[in-house]
Amino acid sequence: MAFYRDNAETYAARDRQPPTDRLAAFIARLSPGAAVLDLGCGGGHDSLHLIEAGLEVTPCDGSAELARAAERRIGRKVEIVTFQDIERSQRFDAIWAEASLLHVPRTELPDVLVRVHRALRPGGLLQASFKAGEREGHDRFGRYFNYPSAAWLRTCFEWAGWSNIHIEEADGGGYDNQPTRWLHVTATADHATPRSGLLPSCARRRTLRASVSTIDRKMKGPRVQEDCTARSNCRFARLLPVSLNPIRFKDKNLRPFKVRQRRLRV
Ligand SMILES: C[S@@+](CC[C@H](N)C(=O)[O-])C[C@H]1O[C@@H](n2cnc3c(N)ncnc32)[C@H](O)[C@@H]1O
Repeated sequence: MAFYRDNAETYAARDRQPPTDRLAAFIARLSPGAAVLDLGCGGGHDSLHLIEAGLEVTPCDGSAELARAAERRIGRKVEIVTFQDIERSQRFDAIWAEASLLHVPRTELPDVLVRVHRALRPGGLLQASFKAGEREGHDRFGRYFNYPSAAWLRTCFEWAGWSNIHIEEADGGGYDNQPTRWLHVTATADHATPRSGLLPSCARRRTLRASVSTIDRKMKGPRVQEDCTARSNCRFARLLPVSLNPIRFKDKNLRPFKVRQRRLRV
């Protein structure tokens, strides 16, 4: 967020063309006048496009400086809220999250996806885009990115209770002018209540324990074992993005687990 606070004016004023094809596909799935949350609206370019398409748009961003710049562009109020603090219940028909959730730390993404899900009415649509990768990191401007693989991202969305998850990969660019592989996700909130907090079933939790303790034996690392047996929501939630992969990969070689164990210590 520091980057957006310190560079709000330049960032908002950059020559950015809205992704018109994806916006058109998104708009085509909505009813006229549908309520849309532009989540992480930045300079407000896409909000303006959605407003001009006749939608009832609520733009929001965690940066007060960018929110002010977006207000000047679109001539309406921009809410200042971080993704981690969204507390809406069934208020929107759709959410447009263009290149914004990619800044949510991996350990916080499952919880944020639950919050975003809750903000949608049943059947509501989410469109979100992420820069693809295998491990989290920072770009040359110091911005944090979660850089997920499609498989990792799908697991997070599934865990958070999303339905009809489609992930399309495409080449593109970004503010850093680097060739970038993008993951464009669409998903729907078909069930009124998404999952939250602890993994729901004991069976799933046992699977998790078994696979994590296998890693622990091989890695001789106390940290994973310690977190694995912790029962509080908070610690379990912190473990979740890491532990999802051991479940998925438990029959394969151990290398990916080593990487994820290091992440746990961050
Ligand atoms: C890469 S910009 C994308 C902006 C806009 N969606 C676009 O495509 O031009 C990411 C945006 O997410 C916002 N952001 C990053 N982390 C956030 C957080 N944790 N909560 C709320 N907004 C956040 C930034 O302030 C910024 O406006």
